[in-house]
Amino acid sequence: MANTLTITDNRTGKTYEIPIEHGAIRATALEQIQDEEGEGLVSYDPGFFNTASCISRVTFIDGDRGILRYRGYPIEELAENSSYLETAYLLIHGELPTSSQFREWERDITNHTMVHENIKHFMDGFHHDAHPMGMLLSTVGALSTFYPDATKIDDPEQRRISIYRLIAKMPTLAAYAYRHSRGLPYTYPDDELSYSGNFLNMMFRMVEPKYQPVPEIENALDILLILHADHEQNCSANAMRVVGSSHPDPYSATAAAIAALYGPLHGGANEAVIRMLNRIGTVSNVRSFIDGVKEGKERLMGFGHRVYKNYDPRAKIIKKMADQVLAVTGSNELLDVAQEVEKIALEDDYFVSRKLYPNVDFYSGFIYHAIGIPTEMFPVLFAMGRTVGWLAQWEEMLLDKEQKINRPKQLFLGEAKRPYVPVGARS
Ligand code: CMC
Repeated sequence: MANTLTITDNRTGKTYEIPIEHGAIRATALEQIQDEEGEGLVSYDPGFFNTASCISRVTFIDGDRGILRYRGYPIEELAENSSYLETAYLLIHGELPTSSQFREWERDITNHTMVHENIKHFMDGFHHDAHPMGMLLSTVGALSTFYPDATKIDDPEQRRISIYRLIAKMPTLAAYAYRHSRGLPYTYPDDELSYSGNFLNMMFRMVEPKYQPVPEIENALDILLILHADHEQNCSANAMRVVGSSHPDPYSATAAAIAALYGPLHGGANEAVIRMLNRIGTVSNVRSFIDGVKEGKERLMGFGHRVYKNYDPRAKIIKKMADQVLAVTGSNELLDVAQEVEKIALEDDYFVSRKLYPNVDFYSGFIYHAIGIPTEMFPVLFAMGRTVGWLAQWEEMLLDKEQKINRPKQLFLGEAKRPYVPVGARS
C-alpha cells in the first residue's frame, strides 16, 4: 500500500501524488497544485480544526476515547501517584526523575521562589479590584526586565534557569496578586513546604509564625496542578509557541500565553462556571437555564471541548476528588446545582448530539472555592499549573529544526486595487 495521496485538480486535469507521513500531508506540498494563473493551492483552516502546527512528544490526547497522557504516562496514574513538581520534571525532561534528580530539581525550583522586591511596587500600583490575571500577566512580562540574559534562548543554561524561575515564581506572583487585592501584606515563600503547601502559605498565612497546610487540601491542590500541567496544542500553548517563534525571552512568551488563557473560552471558563451556577441559584431553575442555552442565549460554561468528544478524563478525577475535599471543608450548595446541570445536559439531545460533556473546568472551581480561593483567582491557578506545559512546548519548539517564525497565510477577499479619493470628493 503506497503511503501517498493522489489528487486530481479538476480545474486543470492534472494529477499529483503527495506523500503521507505520520498520517499527515505537508501543507506546502499543495503549492505545486497551481491554477491557470500559476497560483498554488493553500489549505484554509480557521481555528486550526485539522492542521498540525508542530511535531510534539510532550502530551498525547485521544479526545474520542477520553485519554490524556504526559510523556506516555496516563493522567490518572500521575494524579494518583505523582506530585506536581515530579510531573513538572517529567514534562520538561521527558522522563520521571530518579530520587537524586528529583532532589536537585526540587532544590533548584525552591531556590528561585523569591521575587525582586521591586515587584511589590508593581503590584502596589494596581487598583484594589484589578483582576489578578491582569496582574499576573503584567508582572510575568515584567520579569524579563530583571533577567536580561533570558533573551539568550540558544544557551541551554539560560533556558534552564528561566524554566526554574518561571515555575518557581509563578505561585509567588499569583499569591502577591491575591494579597494585594485583599490589602494584606505579602508573604514570603517558605522553602520547607511543598510547592502546593508553600502556595497556600503565601496565600493564607496571617500572624502565625509557621503556616501548616491541611494535608487533604495541599494534596487536592497538587492534583489540580498536575491535571492542568499540559494539554498539547491548546490556545495558550499555541500562543506560547507562536510568540516564542519570534525568539523573545520566555517571560514575554509566557505573558502572551497567560493572556490567551485569560479568555472565558479557555482558562477563564472555571471562573465563568461558578458565576453561571450562582446565577442559576437553585436546582429548580436548572431546566429553564438549559432551555436558554439550547435557544442559543448563552453557552453552558464548563461543557464542551475542541478535542474531547467524550467525558474529559480530568473532569472525572476532579469530580471524584470534590467529594473528598468537601468532606474536610464542608459542603457546597452550588454542587447540587452543578450535578443537576450535568444530569439534565447529559440526557438532552442538544448536548448528546454535539458530544458536549463536562470539561476540566466544570468541577475544578468547586475545589478551589472549597479551599478558600476566590473566584477571580481560578484562572490564575490554571496558569500556575500550566506554566510548565508552556515551557515544555516552548523548548520543544526552539529545539525543533523545522520550526520557523510563525506566519500564517490568508485568503484575501477585500477590495482590489483602487485609487485614493481626497476627502472632499468622497460621497
Ligand atoms: N454550550 C452550548 N453549546 C455549545 C457549547 C457549550 N458550552 N460548546 C459548544 N457548543 C455547541 C456550539 O454552539 C456548536 O453548535 P452548532 O453546531 O449548533 O453551531 C457546537 O456545539 C460546536 O461548538 P464549537 O464552538 O464549534 O466548538 P469549538 O471546538 O470551537 O469550541 C469550546 C470548544 C471549549 C470553546 C466550546 O465548547 C465552549 O465554548 N465551551 C464553553 C467554555 C468552556 O468550558 N471552556 C473550557 C474548555 S476546557 C479548559 C481548556 O482547556 O481551556
